[in-house]
Amino acid sequence: MCGIVGYTGSAPALLVLLQGLERLEYRGYDSAGVALVENHHLLIEKRVGKIRELIRALWGKELKATTGIGHTRWATHGEVCELNAHPHTDERGEFAVVHNGIIENYREIKEELEKLGVRYKSATDTEVIAHLVALNYEGDLLSAVLKTVSRLRGAYAFAVITTKEPNRIVAVKYGSPLVVGLGKGENFIASDIPALLPFTRDVIPLDDGEVVDLRPDGALIYDFEGNLKTKESMRVLWDIISAEKGGFKHFMLKEIFEQPRTVGDTLKGFVSRDYSLPFSLKDFRRVLVVACGTSYHAGLIGKYWIEKYAGVPVEVVYASELRYSDSPVGEEDLVLAISQSGETADTRFSALSMKERGATLVSIVNVMGSALDRESDYTLYTHAGPEIGVAATKTFTAQLVVLYALAVSHSKEKESLMDRLLRIPHFIEEVLTQAEKIKEIALKYAEYKNAIYLGRYLSYPVALEGALKLKEISYIHAEGYPAGEMKHGPIALIDEKMPVVAIGPKDRVHEKLLSNAEEVLARKGILIGVGFEGDEKFKSLCRDYMGIPPVEEDLTPFLTVVPLQLFAYYMADYLGLDVDQPRNLAKTVTVE
Ligand code: AGP
Repeated sequence: MCGIVGYTGSAPALLVLLQGLERLEYRGYDSAGVALVENHHLLIEKRVGKIRELIRALWGKELKATTGIGHTRWATHGEVCELNAHPHTDERGEFAVVHNGIIENYREIKEELEKLGVRYKSATDTEVIAHLVALNYEGDLLSAVLKTVSRLRGAYAFAVITTKEPNRIVAVKYGSPLVVGLGKGENFIASDIPALLPFTRDVIPLDDGEVVDLRPDGALIYDFEGNLKTKESMRVLWDIISAEKGGFKHFMLKEIFEQPRTVGDTLKGFVSRDYSLPFSLKDFRRVLVVACGTSYHAGLIGKYWIEKYAGVPVEVVYASELRYSDSPVGEEDLVLAISQSGETADTRFSALSMKERGATLVSIVNVMGSALDRESDYTLYTHAGPEIGVAATKTFTAQLVVLYALAVSHSKEKESLMDRLLRIPHFIEEVLTQAEKIKEIALKYAEYKNAIYLGRYLSYPVALEGALKLKEISYIHAEGYPAGEMKHGPIALIDEKMPVVAIGPKDRVHEKLLSNAEEVLARKGILIGVGFEGDEKFKSLCRDYMGIPPVEEDLTPFLTVVPLQLFAYYMADYLGLDVDQPRNLAKTVTVE
């Protein structure tokens, strides 16, 4: 959503803040800004656009301040302009705040403030925090922040500095992520771990309802009532290099090519543990999968596997729809929350509300120490490493590994079924060797304005995922449909200007899919096929064809999705778009 950083210590804070913000840019990049305390004054610089605009503005400025906060914004309230960029201050410019999240009751507070004569400058919700802290300040920043927090409703992580206490940052976590970084004679806060790694590997992910009082010589953590808490720090083992591009043009391309390794690493997480789970799906009446976007598509695939091997009914619901529904959820249900970030607000709050209704909460996350990880009864981890590209790729196939392992864990043949997965990294490698051919195909369709993706059975969620990849990075309108559904209306869309990507591995519905492909051709649609190498019948129907190695029906999603990831990537790159940071998007959506 947004990214916040903070530093207090003995080094020039600006360098730390800018490096941290660059590593958080994937969380949002509408504008960026910093606030520093120097000689009991606030120095504030903010710019619309990416971090590089802010760096340009600060270039050559000798700022010696050793305490500061920074922010990179994904706009929620207020248009994208310098006035609405963070940090925000009180009227006297003695307090500065950076914030990630939404203050749901800011209008009511803003009215109160204006009645008190406060002149509100921006159109943001965040500004209320700066004014409230200033009004509540009676000589101690922590007390002022705790009083302020008691007025706020919503999901937020924010950090405050003041000219009155130059070497101090007080930061709050409630609903949005915030991590403390521990150094020697210096301490840090950030929205996410990558921003801390150049400086420290010792981190403390904060939980909701916690406040950190940060000074160069220490970090004290309190609850919202002001009670001191003791928290264990954790040592981050993965390195920042694994979060760099490694010679690829974009993080997304690197992450597509990492899939043989990340599928293998996630698989190891099961095979090495002889793979016994701390719970059984068969203890529950139903599995309710809650997720968003790509994770939702993974859940749709998991449904087929779980119902086939565990015989437990599965319902897959968009998280944003479930939370406010009257769905009869109770103790007999297992809620399976799928979220690579573990911080998606829709998924978290939906899953937590089902847990409050008595359900058991199991999560599949990629980030250890994330909110969902800490709030779940059980967590299953994908081991895909940090995914920087906003478009999810390697975390999707890693989620499939976990879902498949979860499903077959209830089968007497689980060992042999899991052994089949061992070949998948090799098969993905084989598909990746076709990248140049897939690129040639993609460039033929980059000028089209629409596309339809079709699939049946396990390939239907893959069609949804392929369409999402295309629309989110190339801005081409693309929709995924069950192939059998086309004749009930959407086939009216088919003409000679409509590329149709048909995903048709040789599975139980292959013949049906071929009929659907014929229906598209009969209406002069442009047919692009994804299917088994050697499937000459399907290939002969297609203007272009992307082949995958033949595998068992169950395992086809692991392979059919890879050409679609590359197809979308090469189209977006050809169009000169910002593949890793598409417009309007953020990697982690921590607001509802
Ligand atoms: C997928 O490419 C998108 N980045 C988006 O749909 C994403 O899958 C969704 O926001 C869920 O994110 P999560 O897995 O971190 O919860």
